Amino acid sequence: MPLRCAVFASGGGTNFQALLDRKRAGDLHVDFVLFIGNNSGAAAFERARKNDIPVIHCAPSHFASEEAYSEKLLGILHEHRVELIVLAGYMKKLPSELVREYRHRIVNIHPGLLPAFGGKGIYGSHVHEAVIAYGAKVTGVTVHFVDNEYDHGPVILQRTVEVLDTDDPHTLAGRVLKVEHASYWQAIEAIAQGKIKVEGRRVVRME
Ligand code: GAR
Repeated sequence: MPLRCAVFASGGGTNFQALLDRKRAGDLHVDFVLFIGNNSGAAAFERARKNDIPVIHCAPSHFASEEAYSEKLLGILHEHRVELIVLAGYMKKLPSELVREYRHRIVNIHPGLLPAFGGKGIYGSHVHEAVIAYGAKVTGVTVHFVDNEYDHGPVILQRTVEVLDTDDPHTLAGRVLKVEHASYWQAIEAIAQGKIKVEGRRVVRME
């Protein structure tokens, strides 16, 4: 049975689209059974609807406490028998109880090479701005499991991207995003095929 995945996204969802395209191309063997977004105007909702994926609008601000938010999310995830949570440009912190229950079953993509240029407040375009301001010559993409610290869980995959002297945050973001699209599915497919084992902080690939 294909792995049952829920995708969480806050924005345009081009990473989500790249995963849908890989599934359609027959490269990615998972079922996208649910989409959850915190921002009802996000284009990612439309991508889900076009693919007949049930959508749920759920934001932390809808709830009086983290416990209530967590209970609601867990209820939805259980109802849809979700096995893997895929964060695709999701800008909200997940409740810690959910992260505990889905330990090593939540993946995130970050547009930089962690542990550099990550952490609270360093997401999306902020990452590329920080890379350029620092004068780094190399940046890239990190796919990692999610734990209760920002951008901190075990690393599944990293890819590098050269920073050119002519880059600004926008041009750099464009090249990094292409690499994100080309690589996120590979990490998810490896998980779906049971080829990944977590040993402490190290994620080991079994052939
Ligand atoms: C992507 O670059 C993703 O890596 C980043 O947000 C962008 C979403 O783009 N995520 C983070 O910064 C999370 N820390 P998309 O909506 O077009 O996929």
